[in-house]
Amino acid sequence: MASSDPTPAADHRPQGDGSAPPARPRVLSGIQPTAGSFHLGNYLGAVRQWVALQDTHDAFYMVVDLHAITVPQDPAELRANTRLAAAQLLAAGLDPERCTLFVQSHVPEHAQLAWVMNCLTGFGEASRMTQFKDKSAKQGADRASVGLFTYPILQVADILLYQAHEVPVGEDQRQHIELTRDLAERFNSRFGRTFTVPRPHILKEVAKIYDLQDPSIKMSKSASTPKGLINLLDEPRTTAKKVKSAVTDTDTVIRYDAEAKPGVSNLLTVYSTLTGASVAELEQKYEGKGYGALKTDLAEVMVDFVTPFRTRTQQYLDDPETLDSLLAKGAEKARSVAAETLASAYDKVGFVPAKH
Ligand code: TYM
Repeated sequence: MASSDPTPAADHRPQGDGSAPPARPRVLSGIQPTAGSFHLGNYLGAVRQWVALQDTHDAFYMVVDLHAITVPQDPAELRANTRLAAAQLLAAGLDPERCTLFVQSHVPEHAQLAWVMNCLTGFGEASRMTQFKDKSAKQGADRASVGLFTYPILQVADILLYQAHEVPVGEDQRQHIELTRDLAERFNSRFGRTFTVPRPHILKEVAKIYDLQDPSIKMSKSASTPKGLINLLDEPRTTAKKVKSAVTDTDTVIRYDAEAKPGVSNLLTVYSTLTGASVAELEQKYEGKGYGALKTDLAEVMVDFVTPFRTRTQQYLDDPETLDSLLAKGAEKARSVAAETLASAYDKVGFVPAKH
């Protein structure tokens, strides 16, 4: 089930050259390379959809290293984590033959269009972005970088450069997609139709995967305790342990009820998504059995999932030359699309074309 957003993506690309629009709708999404390992929320909320959409969409996916420097970073770590993120995306099932996989900083048009979009965004509008408020509160607002403040506007540029129709993400990105829609519409109405107005592609069931220790908050790399966070590259034994010690409730009935039983419901969501069994089937399977049985089985499901994922990731990392050249090819494909959109946007705002 796709997003609850009822508005169809509006394709405002100029049709001037008479070329047919792409047969498949386009998707674009990105993931930060900040944490090293992806966590289960990244995978179930986003990356899993990216893999599926390769077959039905013209798909562009990137590792957003420009976004990663909005908070202080260690250069060597960033470089390693960028390759690690790409390796994990391939291990998860992205296929460079069926999608365009690239690193954001390899395509300079992202920063270039972001500037134009910065100039179109109101200061108050940017101030209302909740992720900035959350992240800057953590480090103290005065110490937060201007880059962190304009982070969502770079994300807007990411999406608009590719004329994406849909953006597959988790619920926490919805506000950024709303901003993208607003700015695309603003630009189009001020300067003439230029950008496709995208819509979020958010799967309701997995839009928000919760922390295993505190099912009232989303699973995130900045979780208060590492026990609630499933990192896909953790030792499988550690993963099994975390699943088995997940917080549930004092009741014993295994039933999906996000309000009254958030912990159990989260486990059922994860279990159902990883195995393909419906939540109703799982409720039936575990009728009369305790939480222990559910957790033991889910721990096994998780281990069966992460074990080959870790191996595949390592295989891609073991051959950095192939990985880098694959990313170079992706960047080349991405640039051919991005450059065309940027040229059109530059022209619309009134820049004199550079003579080559
Ligand atoms: P990032 O790197 O924080 O997360 C990557 C993706 O994982 C999703 N996600 C979750 N989904 C469900 N439950 C969770 N607990 C959970 N935690 C994370 C996120 O929603 C996201 O889809 N700003 C973006 C990166 C970005 C981007 C873009 C995305 C940059 N440019 C353009 C789309 C289009 C981010 O920080 O994602």
